[in-house]
Amino acid sequence: MRKLLIAGNWKMNGGAEFTSDLLSAIKNQKPTISEEVDVLVCPTFVSLSMAIDQLHESDILVGAQNVHEAEKGAYTGEISASMLVEAGCSYVLVGHSERRAYYHEDDALVHKKIQTALAHELSPVVCVGELLAERKEGRHFEVVKTQTLAAFEGLSDEQVVQIVVAYEPVWAIGTGETASPEQAQEMHAFIRSILAEQFGDVAQAIRLLYGGSMKPANAQELLSRADVDGGLIGGASLDAESFVSIIEIAESLSTKTIEPNPSSTSEV
Ligand code: 13P
Repeated sequence: MRKLLIAGNWKMNGGAEFTSDLLSAIKNQKPTISEEVDVLVCPTFVSLSMAIDQLHESDILVGAQNVHEAEKGAYTGEISASMLVEAGCSYVLVGHSERRAYYHEDDALVHKKIQTALAHELSPVVCVGELLAERKEGRHFEVVKTQTLAAFEGLSDEQVVQIVVAYEPVWAIGTGETASPEQAQEMHAFIRSILAEQFGDVAQAIRLLYGGSMKPANAQELLSRADVDGGLIGGASLDAESFVSIIEIAESLSTKTIEPNPSSTSEV
């Protein structure tokens, strides 16, 4: 069984006051969070400690949006994995397309960040996804395969099961345009097939999230697909009502039975 994961990436939105208000609003909605669903919020660095305090007695987990690959040292402005763990984070986003595009994070750096996070028992949520032009050129499978293989290169089975993959087609992020449930399932099945080639059955335990304009209106259709194990949600996670609606949709779908998926064998 794969537990669904509903994760909010708040990006560079809101400081402590905003975070506190949004968390209060989420808690006021009293979302049911069962054993079957993980819920994660990823606020900005400066709000992490406060979020962790505020969520102390709740079932909502807290993660960071980025981590530096080095243990410590002269890296002005950066945050290390041990700092995130000390603050109370359990997850960290790695290789988000905004970081790849604006901060020149390449596959090699993303891989180093994953290794550092794993060494500190922080679960990386590694983001992969193609640009619109790459999809139009029919290169989306190839792009996602390269990103996925680089992220997982040389890792052990024990490490691999700690990782969550978020498929975020760049053309669907913040655009209001969503991958269709068929497009999401097709890519997720493909990612799982790549992981299965490398790691065998362990691939069945890896959670694959979809990200890109997920909202209450499309969450049910996306999350009910066999290989879509949750969502990484930007805009809709900044609104307590929308985020809680998506959590409740996930709860209603509960755990997924893992069955061999014939479409997981597609090749580039
Ligand atoms: P949106 O949900 O705003 O499209 O953002 C998706 C995303 O980038 C999550 O990491």
